[in-house]
Amino acid sequence: MKIVVIQGPNLNMLGIREQQVYGAMKLEQIHAQMKDFATQNNVEIEFFQTNLEGEIVDKIQECYGEAQGIIINAAAYTHTSIAIRDAISAVSIPTIEVHISNIHRREDFRKENMIAPVCTSSIVGFGPFGYHLAMMGMLQVMQEIQAAKAAQEAAQKAPQE
Ligand code: DQA
Repeated sequence: MKIVVIQGPNLNMLGIREQQVYGAMKLEQIHAQMKDFATQNNVEIEFFQTNLEGEIVDKIQECYGEAQGIIINAAAYTHTSIAIRDAISAVSIPTIEVHISNIHRREDFRKENMIAPVCTSSIVGFGPFGYHLAMMGMLQVMQEIQAAKAAQEAAQKAPQE
């Protein structure tokens, strides 16, 4: 099973940008923790960061047929990007969005969210720990999908009465 983690604009500046909002952890440190958790749970994980909207769309499309889960922090594009929303919708892969800060308690323009309606779940306001919560949530979602598939296969194989 493979999870792809997609990080949007300015998240490469974590640890430098507005520490009072986003904390002191660098992106590499967050990813190292996620990698450890993935390894412990026998899950393959890939990390991708870009400041460009189209590259996020390309990456989501590349996940089709390749990944079973996406964890995304689309950062500022969360509030504007119909293209990213459509890409998530197009690939139909369970997707969890993460926001380090609580976007609902900030400026009004951050309350607009193009992505959330097409995501399985949203995790906001837990700081960098939100990425760990997303990993736990994603494993749960993947296990539920696998269990449902197994049950369906068993039902098809069972002799009809
Ligand atoms: C963010 C919240 C966005 O509003 C902001 O533009 C970001 C980061 C967060 O993780 O809290 O860049 O997605």
